[in-house]
Amino acid sequence: MNIKKTDIIWEIASKYPITVSIFLKYWIEFCCKWNISLEESSKRDNFNLDVVLEEINTLINFNNSEDIDLSSKSLIEISEYIKNNFHNPIRELLYPTEVLAKKVAMVHGLAHTELIKIKEIVEWLVPVLEMHFDKEGQILHPMLKELQESYDKSNDSLSLHCWSIKNPIRQMEFEHDNYGDMLLELRNLTNNYILPDGACRSYQALYANLQKLEEDLMRHTNLENFVLHPKAIEMENKLSWNNKCDF
Ligand SMILES: [Fe+2]
Ligand SMILES: [Fe+2]
Repeated sequence: MNIKKTDIIWEIASKYPITVSIFLKYWIEFCCKWNISLEESSKRDNFNLDVVLEEINTLINFNNSEDIDLSSKSLIEISEYIKNNFHNPIRELLYPTEVLAKKVAMVHGLAHTELIKIKEIVEWLVPVLEMHFDKEGQILHPMLKELQESYDKSNDSLSLHCWSIKNPIRQMEFEHDNYGDMLLELRNLTNNYILPDGACRSYQALYANLQKLEEDLMRHTNLENFVLHPKAIEMENKLSWNNKCDF
């Protein structure tokens, strides 16, 4: 698979969520509201198109992780992939990051006042993300499983439930936007995760953790917004049960 300079950025990011790390690195906007190609973006945002193209194609072609393109998988398989590759690892990252944010703010907050704001955002993010993953794991994923099973059996038994997958999806995407704004603020506060001279090990670990958190969360969001959710909505639309809920 070769990505071309004329390919649309958000389509690349949605098909290959792993490429989000490159878009973040070069500050390339990959949100679907910007319907522009890599070439157009390079002229607008002034990055080296050849370098970025090569990095993207290398990452896609030589990455050993299984099934980077998940669009052909079932809703159940994609949900499982998200749980194992994003929800669980991100959860493990949250507590140490919060501890580091508090510690570094306490020690260096006077000299680097942005650390106080970073700590506040991390303290906001941790419970928000835990609740978000809980809702997906305990509410959305079981609904997706039921939808997939009903679809596979080609039956409309879901009509008895009178729920629509669009409702939890709308809420999850709203939450993605909310924490996405906070991630952007963290990026600005840390000056794109550039450490000040003489930063101690805890300072370094905090920035490394925050950067990893951002990258994993953006890949997770992309996979859900552009692969999992559209696939579920399309599947639901093909079943007629939606029309039977008249209250
Ligand atoms: Fe998720
Ligand atoms: Fe999510």
